[in-house]
Amino acid sequence: FDPRPIIALLRDGQGLDAGDAGRIAAGLADGGVTDAQAAAFAMAVLLRGLSTDQRVALTLAMRGSGQVLRWDLPGPVLDKHSTGGIGDVTSLILAPLLAACGAYVPMISGRGLGHTGGTLDKLEAIPGWRATLSTAEFRDQVREIGCAIVAASDELAPADRRLYAIRDEAACVESIDLITASILSKKLAEGLDGLVLDVKSGSGAFLGGAEAATALAASLVTTAEAAGCPTTALVTDMDQPLARAAGNAVEVRAAIDCLRGEASALRDLTLALAAEALSLAGRADAMAEVTAALDSGRAAEIFARMIAGQDGPADLLDAPDRHLVQAPVIRPVPTPAGGFVASIDTRALGQAALGLGAGRQRAGEQIDHRTGLSDLLRTAEAADGPLAMVHAASEAQAERAIAAVQAAYRLTPDAPQRQPLILDRIA
Ligand code: URA
Repeated sequence: FDPRPIIALLRDGQGLDAGDAGRIAAGLADGGVTDAQAAAFAMAVLLRGLSTDQRVALTLAMRGSGQVLRWDLPGPVLDKHSTGGIGDVTSLILAPLLAACGAYVPMISGRGLGHTGGTLDKLEAIPGWRATLSTAEFRDQVREIGCAIVAASDELAPADRRLYAIRDEAACVESIDLITASILSKKLAEGLDGLVLDVKSGSGAFLGGAEAATALAASLVTTAEAAGCPTTALVTDMDQPLARAAGNAVEVRAAIDCLRGEASALRDLTLALAAEALSLAGRADAMAEVTAALDSGRAAEIFARMIAGQDGPADLLDAPDRHLVQAPVIRPVPTPAGGFVASIDTRALGQAALGLGAGRQRAGEQIDHRTGLSDLLRTAEAADGPLAMVHAASEAQAERAIAAVQAAYRLTPDAPQRQPLILDRIA
């Protein structure tokens, strides 16, 4: 197989047909396409762009490069994908919440890299919890409990695994076509009846500007729908952390507080995303249904079973302090001047958590599950106490993080307007 004619057509603006997309995806998965050819392919797509049909063809070809799950369950199979943010621990709540409403959630998730955290890293702050299940274990848990959150197996969209690493090296990550095909090739391999997307916009988002976020959301919805999966996207605020925590054990704690009924932006967004997902499955009063499932404790009960099902402690919800590791140094971040929070450099908060060891700069690095930030103030709130609490491995690390958090907050004397949580909805 010689991929050069396909790359040359793309380079010259003549597009990509479904057969060629399939050959490229297969070649990415089996090594028939070299690294140099893969980089040239990615750059040609980035510079020339794909039509909707071509993007759908690439997405389906990359999905088809590996295993595609099929289910036979008595309820809809649903999932959510987020483009990632600070304090975004919605998955831990949303998966059991949808399961509590009779849906099934086979959530294949990732690890964090750079300034945003990864769902699997957060869950690994729970002692004993296991991200890797065999396909049989994964299927059994989804069938019996209604949800599982697991690491991708090598068989999931292998073309994307290879292309993503090469895009990173070849400065080709920032292509809406390639991002769309990458995200959806993995999500659509879960065999879904509906997908809800949370595309973040703002200083802590993967793609910064509101326009780019809306364009990515539109591309994802159009492509997923054309590939046969009913999909809705919400564009949501990432100009501030979603939960008041950034790190691993501290974010699991925030998820538990939400499951136990605490009011927060995290709760509001999780309910909105879960309601969108359930609406895709035809439920008429989805918001009332998800709210009742959270408030009744049914979602919390399923969360407990999901954690225990993957070898975590059975009493995590009742005794989180017994199980979640604590950092040796916990310090408040003093407010340099009074007033209100005008704006937050949210990416800088993510970097501060990274500096504490809560995330990784390079794939494969060890992380410290104990460290991070908690009690983070959100915009428009009065800064009359600490801006946050720092959870650190050492005093020196805490000092650096305190300075970084102080630099990330801009305060004003007058209360600014609150920002809406949901900026746009694309269906
Ligand atoms: N996340 C992905 O899975 N792929 C991308 O290309 C970007 C973000």
